[in-house]
Amino acid sequence: MDAPVTVCETSRLLLRHFTAADLESLAAMHSDPEVARFIGGVKTREQTLHRLEEWMAQYQQYGFSKWAVVLRSTGELVGRCGLSPEQIDGISEWELGWTFARAHWGHGYATEAASAAMEHCFRKLGHKRLISLIRPGNLASVRVAERIWHELRAQSAVERCTSRYVCGIFPSREVAGARYFDVTFN
Ligand SMILES: CC(C)(COP(=O)(O)OP(=O)(O)OC[C@H]1O[C@@H](n2cnc3c(N)ncnc32)[C@H](O)[C@@H]1OP(=O)(O)O)[C@@H](O)C(=O)NCCC(=O)NCCS
Repeated sequence: MDAPVTVCETSRLLLRHFTAADLESLAAMHSDPEVARFIGGVKTREQTLHRLEEWMAQYQQYGFSKWAVVLRSTGELVGRCGLSPEQIDGISEWELGWTFARAHWGHGYATEAASAAMEHCFRKLGHKRLISLIRPGNLASVRVAERIWHELRAQSAVERCTSRYVCGIFPSREVAGARYFDVTFN
């Protein structure tokens, strides 16, 4: 079997395409109520399989989607990070999201992965704008969004970017009061 497609690497992490072999790890992560609290609730194994199939179809359709985040040292799948298509108030957007297994929270992995993913999207995939939608109370995720913006500044790409937070109301997505984070790369 071919090795999964590598997207990008950081000092500790590797982002790659998901494959069917990731189902068990992903299903375990999605079944944890703490993990699922701000991302629409726990998912069954079947629901996770459906998501996995959607992401693999999006690799064919767009060339990108959600990516598996694995530890370079062990190959263990610790989370996911990547893009999903969203319709926000009638406008098509690409949302950069991040979710990690609880055992791996607090090591800076989300910030490290999201920063590399954002860089990849702007510089390699040619995206001009990304958004992140963060539900009320998801303070760890807001912190990740803030940190990846600072990472981008550190890479001196700041003159090419604008960024803003607003507290939006998105009744269609039932995330009223969510933080809406967007970055535009000129
Ligand atoms: C959000 C999530 C990905 C963060 O993962 P992580 O690997 O722990 O993130 P990092 O270690 O890179 O950074 C987390 C930051 O949030 C901070 N943080 C963690 N919990 C927090 C809390 N309850 N309140 C405020 N800040 C918090 C940490 O101190 C850290 O900030 P720092 O870098 O300034 O120290 C993880 O909590 C998760 O998977 N949550 C469930 C899924 C989810 O909600 N995804 C986001 C959907 S928008």
